[in-house]
Amino acid sequence: MKANIALIGFMGSGKTTIGRILARSLDMKFIDIDRCISMKEKRTIPEIFEEHGEKYFRDLERSIIEEESKDNNIVISTGGGAIIDNVNIKNLKSTSFVVYLDCDVNTIYERVKRSKTRPLLTNSEDMLQTIQDLYDKRQTLYKISSDFSIKIDSNTNIYDSVEKIKNAYI
Ligand code: S3P
Repeated sequence: MKANIALIGFMGSGKTTIGRILARSLDMKFIDIDRCISMKEKRTIPEIFEEHGEKYFRDLERSIIEEESKDNNIVISTGGGAIIDNVNIKNLKSTSFVVYLDCDVNTIYERVKRSKTRPLLTNSEDMLQTIQDLYDKRQTLYKISSDFSIKIDSNTNIYDSVEKIKNAYI
């Protein structure tokens, strides 16, 4: 059994919410990579993007994933773009059972449309289209990066998702 569980998936797919419950019920520690980045920089994610740009954020994301995934017995919630970097995929796959939360575009849109914390979406003229384009670009990467996936839509019960992941992991 892999030491950790890593959750991957698009913004708004529920990685943090599901991750917290999953960690609690398996008596594992919960780590949210975006939160680690924010704490390290003493800035919010939008501030980091605004002040330093996406590359700076991705470099931090890579080093924090590398560092944190070395730990054991943790549930790691990654940012939605973590899988665009091969190094992250390699680090997550070698240390963690990687679970893709496969959420449909409309559910994502409904969940994030008022979010002010997603810099890749907040300035777009047509947010649904931006989500669709990013989703199309990333879908294959999420699939090839994961050991297991679960479908998520607006009717999905969080606790059912947690059970499915637990059953697949244990
Ligand atoms: C991003 C997702 C965000 C955050 C950053 C970039 C992405 O995390 O890491 O805004 O590229 O999809 P969430 O998936 O937790 O929203």
